Amino acid sequence: MSILVTGGTGYIGSHTVLKLLERGKDVVVLDNFSNSGPDALRRLEDIAGRPITFYKADILDANALSKIFGTHNVEAVVHFAGLKAVGESVGKPLEYYRNNVAGTLTLLEACRAFGVKNVVFSSSATVYGSANPTPYREDMPTGGCTNPYGRTKHIIEQMLQDLHHSDNSYNVTILRYFNPIGAHPSGKLGELPGGTPNNLMPYITQVAAGKLPKLNIFGADYDTPDGTCLRDYIHVEDLAHGHVLALENLGGCNVYNLGTGRGTSVSEIVRSFEEATGVSIPHVITDRRPGDIAVSFADTRKAQRELGFTAECGIHQMCRDSWRWQSFLSK
Ligand code: NAD
Ligand code: UD1
Repeated sequence: MSILVTGGTGYIGSHTVLKLLERGKDVVVLDNFSNSGPDALRRLEDIAGRPITFYKADILDANALSKIFGTHNVEAVVHFAGLKAVGESVGKPLEYYRNNVAGTLTLLEACRAFGVKNVVFSSSATVYGSANPTPYREDMPTGGCTNPYGRTKHIIEQMLQDLHHSDNSYNVTILRYFNPIGAHPSGKLGELPGGTPNNLMPYITQVAAGKLPKLNIFGADYDTPDGTCLRDYIHVEDLAHGHVLALENLGGCNVYNLGTGRGTSVSEIVRSFEEATGVSIPHVITDRRPGDIAVSFADTRKAQRELGFTAECGIHQMCRDSWRWQSFLSK
């Protein structure tokens, strides 16, 4: 029995593939390389120390999916494949709806055709919108997303819940990630930001590498202890481990936050990065970024209680590992 990992050469998918292989699982990876490539696959195989069963295929391609499901005895799908750039989704909404929503629909139709009834899905804390109080709990109302990317996640969550309600032999686990950062401790796997990064950690590592002159801290006048925004940063290794636990505990239709339960401010991240790496990060305070909320962090009790999930890595390790990955990229 195999586990099909869509988007398995991407940032979070590749870390999860390694954890599944470590557990002795038979893994089949599918990716269209729109945001990764053969290099990532090679590095993944290098760390795993063995070849990986891989298909360069698109989740929108029903024929390719049929071939994969027809060849392998797939017991579960871990579905990472998707476009994820918030800003880009505003300019290209149809591309996001097609790739993420229609892609997931095509994938789920293939699952149905081949009787595959176990699905783990990559959602995001963005589905909590801006009206809920923190910490975010899984039973809070969702929606009110401010961009097409977030709306695709919300729509897919509903598609999956509807599927389970139509036939409760489908086991669906929706994982809402908070802010994934960090990289594989080998320094050979990590996030590939296309162009100038929008997210904080890749921006910081590029400043550290001298590729960007300084970090702009988007607002220091929020109602937080130091005035900068608080986020729940989680190491990608912890996040990957959460997927293994989700697979081991599939049953019914469940939603879990994957975060640490702690908010860290932008200024604290900058300070921690400098402490952890010894590299200083020139920075200035600028205006707020439109659409940002002051505080976002997870209530982690449900994942702890039902999956036995606890994030282990601290901010210093997240910074060190992110920097090791950036240093690898800069070589
Ligand atoms: P990523 O871009 O590194 O990985 C996604 C992978 O999916 C890429 O390798 C890409 O080539 C592939 N892909 C995209 N569209 C595809 C398609 N149509 N067919 C086949 N492959 C396709 O992103 P990531 O950070 O690893 O994110 C994985 C998932 O987690 C995404 O669904 C993303 O929306 C979600 N997520 C990510 C974050 C984050 O901060 N990284 C936060 C919340 C949720
Ligand atoms: C963003 C997305 C969210 C997505 C997540 C993926 C928005 C509104 N939200 O979350 O949907 O799931 O990325 O990780 O885009 N910051 C700076 N300077 C920078 C970059 C960021 O000060 O150059 C600050 C931001 O204001 C924010 C914090 O750093 O307070 C984290 O930003 P970011 O990494 O972009 O994540 P989110 O905005 O939380």
